[in-house]
Amino acid sequence: MARTVGIGLVGVGWMGRIHSVAYRRCPDHFPDCAGRARLVVAADEEPERARVAVEQLGYARATDDWREVIADPEVDAVSVATPNRLHRDVAIAAAEAGKHVWIEKPVGRFPSETAEIAAAVARAGIKSLVGFNYRHAPAVTHARELIASGAVGVVDHFRSQWIAAYAADPRGVLSWRFLAGEAGLGILGDLGSHAVDLAQFLLGPIESVTARTETIVDERPLPASAGTHFALADDGPRAPVENEDAVWSIVRFASGVTGTLEASRVAVGPQARYAFEVHGSAGAVAWDFERMNELAVFEASAGGDAGYARVLMGPQHEPFGRFQPGPGLPMGYDDLKVIEAALFLESAVDGVQREPGVAEALAAARVIAALERSAASGAWETVGDLGLSTD
Ligand SMILES: NC(=O)c1ccc[n+]([C@@H]2O[C@H](COP(=O)([O-])OP(=O)(O)OC[C@H]3O[C@@H](n4cnc5c(N)ncnc54)[C@H](O)[C@@H]3O)[C@@H](O)[C@H]2O)c1
Repeated sequence: MARTVGIGLVGVGWMGRIHSVAYRRCPDHFPDCAGRARLVVAADEEPERARVAVEQLGYARATDDWREVIADPEVDAVSVATPNRLHRDVAIAAAEAGKHVWIEKPVGRFPSETAEIAAAVARAGIKSLVGFNYRHAPAVTHARELIASGAVGVVDHFRSQWIAAYAADPRGVLSWRFLAGEAGLGILGDLGSHAVDLAQFLLGPIESVTARTETIVDERPLPASAGTHFALADDGPRAPVENEDAVWSIVRFASGVTGTLEASRVAVGPQARYAFEVHGSAGAVAWDFERMNELAVFEASAGGDAGYARVLMGPQHEPFGRFQPGPGLPMGYDDLKVIEAALFLESAVDGVQREPGVAEALAAARVIAALERSAASGAWETVGDLGLSTD
């Protein structure tokens, strides 16, 4: 019999909606999950969005004050889906109130805020889950298993690209993502945090980096209203972009492997090319989120055949079978969030910390801090503590 977990949501935007729907879908896909969500209260500063939380998403009540979510005695666990500006205050308040947190990446505006959140979570002993959803794609998990099992031999190259189209059009409005006070870092925090987390998930810790960053579209039109992500404006006042659009980096893993990591929100062409390629002495694997359910696998063949085979995910690649009965039927992005919801609810009930939690977010944040330092110094930088009392 599943135990009920009272859920509070802060931020009813894109991610807030996806978290909410994921909680609701969890019993359909993970009927064996030990936790069953009850959507108690949602907060958004926009009254219209708070209303949607009750009328469409199924929350019992809504508020414009996130502190009411934390204080609600029926709330056991909190989804933090606000702009990055609020991650720290909401997550720390939730932890101090003894509530578990499912928090969106990048977990704070800057690496220092990630460290503060991780310290508060550790002090409180609550469980956390971080929205590094790409880890849960069955093809990514399969790639990791192939690498760990030695199927590609000794790994000697890594490359990854995280190219999103959401800001490729210069008419894309100046949403919170482009403002230092709201987002903190630009692409380094936004897709860079996913990129670093996935690289470390596949190949272990990164120990040194070199990076260059650029802001390519340096001003954007002001948004007319709150619904901003992907919105365009042809005219009206413009204001400066306050954080970086693109990063190019060489990274060195503790294992001795060298790799490249590139991320951009303004490169025209790819829409969501979140991709990696790992080469070893005996084979290679490659994945691209635009074809989420496929893994390209190269295995040396005795007959001399060469080239990647296209492997479709199927029920043998857990948890694909929770969503689709056979290969070729695609899982989608939102399904990755259902997997996250199941992991989070399970942890809220059995008290077992699962990955990725804030410890993995902090591990990514340390690399991002080194990338930032390298972009400023032009030199190789070692990944290390953030120099804070919370490290
Ligand atoms: N894991 C992923 O793949 C992924 C994808 C997109 C966004 N994100 C992360 O999710 C978070 C939210 O991004 P989004 O795209 O959903 O943003 P969004 O702009 O769509 O939604 C943010 C919501 O927070 C609300 N908000 C702002 N201030 C608030 C306050 N004081 N109290 C309550 N609500 C407030 C806004 O009104 C808005 O409804 C960000 O941290 C982002 O980095 C993660």
